[in-house]
Amino acid sequence: MSKRPLDVRRVTGLVNHGPTVLVSCRHAGRSNLITLAWATPVSMDPPMIAIAVAPARFSHDLIARSGEFVINVPGSGLLRPVWHCGTTSGRDGDKFRGAGLTEIRGSAVQAPLVGECFGHAECRVIHAPTTGDHTLFVGEVVAASVESSAFDGGLRLRRPYHTLHHLGGSRFLTSAGTQLSPV
Ligand SMILES: Cc1cc2nc3c(=O)[nH]c(=O)nc-3n(C[C@H](O)[C@H](O)[C@H](O)COP(=O)(O)O)c2cc1C
Repeated sequence: MSKRPLDVRRVTGLVNHGPTVLVSCRHAGRSNLITLAWATPVSMDPPMIAIAVAPARFSHDLIARSGEFVINVPGSGLLRPVWHCGTTSGRDGDKFRGAGLTEIRGSAVQAPLVGECFGHAECRVIHAPTTGDHTLFVGEVVAASVESSAFDGGLRLRRPYHTLHHLGGSRFLTSAGTQLSPV
C-alpha cells in the first residue's frame, strides 16, 4: 500500500458508510424529519444508538425538548424523500407532506414512525453531550420493528430493502453497490 496524508476535515469519508437514516421527532404537536448520515450503535445491552445533530437544525430543538427520536431505515427507493428531508428545514413546512411520507404511531414514544421505511428503532435520549459542532444524542432503544420480509433468512437484506450510504455531496451508494444521485 502507498499511503498519503488526508485532510482531517475529510476523514469522515473513511467511516461515513453506515446506512443513511431518516430520524423522526415530535414536540408540542409538531412532527419533523431529518436525514442523518451520522448514526451509530454504541451499546448492545442495553441497546443504544447515538446520532450527531447540529444545533442549527430544527430537529435539534424537537429532540432536545421531547427527549425522544426514532431511527427509520429507508430502502434505496426512497432516495428522493431522503434528499428532500436533508435539504429542507421543518421550519419552512411539513416535511412528511413535502416528501410524500406517512406518519404512523410508534409503540413506545410520541415521535412518529415513517410508514415507507422498513426498519424502526424508537429511542429515549439518555445523554446529550456536545461533540464539537454537533450534539451527540445517545438514545436507549425502547422498541424496534422491521418489515417481515426484509431479511433473507440470515442477516442479508433483500433487494427492495437495500440501504443508502452517503458518500458526500449528492452521491450515494446502495448496499448492493449501485451509485445513485438525487440531482
Ligand atoms: C445525506 C445527508 C446526510 C446528513 N447527515 C447529517 C447529520 O448526520 N447530522 C446533521 O446534523 N445533519 C445532517 N444532514 C443535514 C440535515 O439533514 C439538513 O440540514 C436538514 O435540512 C435539517 O432539517 P431540519 O432543520 O428540519 O432539522 C444531512 C443531510 C444529507 C442530505
